[in-house]
Amino acid sequence: MIWQCKIRHYSSAFGLSEHDSILTSAHLAGEKLKYGCAAGHCGLCKLRLCSGQVDMRHSGGISRADITAGYILACCSRPLTDIEIELDE
Ligand code: FES
Repeated sequence: MIWQCKIRHYSSAFGLSEHDSILTSAHLAGEKLKYGCAAGHCGLCKLRLCSGQVDMRHSGGISRADITAGYILACCSRPLTDIEIELDE
């Protein structure tokens, strides 16, 4: 684990591997993030990236408008830095 992910409005954080998606790292750490296809199609894992950078390679599960607004898909984004995310409830 080389990067850290903080979850805004929660006191939790978990480690991120440069080789795994944010979703995979979260699940390995016991954090329950919403997901469906785990392949960049359905959009269920969408969350807001508050700070930091990721490399996202999706398959159409997120709109250009959402990306512009700062959203990412956790299942197909790998961290490039420490990040902070905000979950939709
Ligand atoms: S779980 Fe379907 S797009 Fe991420």
